[in-house]
Amino acid sequence: VRQPRLVIAVDGPSGSGKSSVCRAAATQLGAAYLDTGAMYRAATWYCLDQQVDLDDEDAVALAVEELPLTISTDPQHQTITVGQADISAEIREPRISEKVSEVATNRRARTLLVAAQRRIIDEAGFIVAEGRDITTVVAPDAQVRVLLTASAEARLRRRGAQLGGTQDAEALKRQVLERDKKDSTASNFTEAADGVAVLDSSDLTFEETVNSLIGRVEQAQGAG
Ligand code: DC
Repeated sequence: VRQPRLVIAVDGPSGSGKSSVCRAAATQLGAAYLDTGAMYRAATWYCLDQQVDLDDEDAVALAVEELPLTISTDPQHQTITVGQADISAEIREPRISEKVSEVATNRRARTLLVAAQRRIIDEAGFIVAEGRDITTVVAPDAQVRVLLTASAEARLRRRGAQLGGTQDAEALKRQVLERDKKDSTASNFTEAADGVAVLDSSDLTFEETVNSLIGRVEQAQGAG
């Protein structure tokens, strides 16, 4: 089967449902999938494992330079390893989430990870890549560029449901907004760049959001 060369770049804030939407779309399209956030998380895991001082910018950059990272691009089997260690589950732990923006704001670390991401995208050819700077920095020439957003209320609602609805609403809101603020220091993903389509999922179901993304891909396939 001839694989079409088509890159689908998706950015958006945490809690926009980006990862699940992109994985589902990639699965249905038969495309590869890249979760760039997982790479920042893996880099953070490695820095903590190597006891790198996260305030030491040079030390963090050096650690990322030697990071022995592999990441799968199968949307249905996401595994990420550093050396021999499978850290697919560990990178989701709060101890990583709390520290990851310190690595993500390191300019040299970003340059290295962006280069790695471009290699993975090039190699895959037909791929859905998601993150915060895919439409603008990693793959600005992607055929499909989408900013997936959801209102703060919708993201809070989903996050609350994810946690079983037992969380204190005010604390949850603080967490989500605090996370946005931290993330936005690394790259501006809250406004769509030129040529980037906004897909607002606030009032859409999961399926509707996936279908909307797939529709844009099919449109691009028709055009190419
Ligand atoms: O999407 P996520 O929560 O797994 O992202 C983890 C962190 O990495 C978050 O702080 C945002 C940052 N990130 C980034 O700066 N650039 C990307 N392309 C992807 C993630």
